[in-house]
Amino acid sequence: MRIDIITVLPQLLEGPLNHSIVKRAREKGLVDLHVHDLRNFSQDKHRRVDDYAFGGEAGMVMSIEPIERAISQLSSQREYDEIIYTSPDGSRFNQGEANRLALAENLLILCGHYKGIDQRIRDHLVSCEISIGDYVLTGGELAAAVITDSVVRLLPGAISDETSALSDSFQDGLLAPPVYTRPADYKGWKVPDILLSGHAAKIDQWKHEQSLERTRKLRPDLLEGMEE
Ligand code: ADE
Repeated sequence: MRIDIITVLPQLLEGPLNHSIVKRAREKGLVDLHVHDLRNFSQDKHRRVDDYAFGGEAGMVMSIEPIERAISQLSSQREYDEIIYTSPDGSRFNQGEANRLALAENLLILCGHYKGIDQRIRDHLVSCEISIGDYVLTGGELAAAVITDSVVRLLPGAISDETSALSDSFQDGLLAPPVYTRPADYKGWKVPDILLSGHAAKIDQWKHEQSLERTRKLRPDLLEGMEE
């Protein structure tokens, strides 16, 4: 898979995309990640990428030219499955969307900034708009990092334990069950006996019950409309 990210703040993406599972996935060649500085596509002598809003709206708007140039240049080299714009008014990102995007060959993510981008880019160039939650970030970079991280960890081979990504919270619509490690007894705080019993089927049953109970307690909204 290849992911291209267009941003005015490439430095903001350096940390999240160069550590842990994403770093290893890059090293293993599972994902080819490229961060592009939008200013490199500006023809303005000061490398400006924004301008005043028409109609007297306060705040700056990301201009159409450098973005169109960047998207055209990248799109001439490969076909993108999705051209994503990160914005608080996009559709809410979730595990299902991460699973869908993980099947793509090429993704392009455009990070929003300032007051937003010229609407014509959204109308003509962007194929999907994603929000990571109902709050406003300074820019779309952190959202792009969240999307990239959640997609890359799903790529086959990205996580050493193949079943690990499948047993994550949300993969079956439920929160994950609690997990424990050694010692089995820490100052009287004990690991549930069932986990030490060695009965694989009973353990699976217990985990499922715990998932259901946790979801009922912490995220009952996830169970709405789901048949038990
Ligand atoms: N840009 C600013 N806020 C955002 C959000 N909540 N999701 C995605 N992109 C954003």
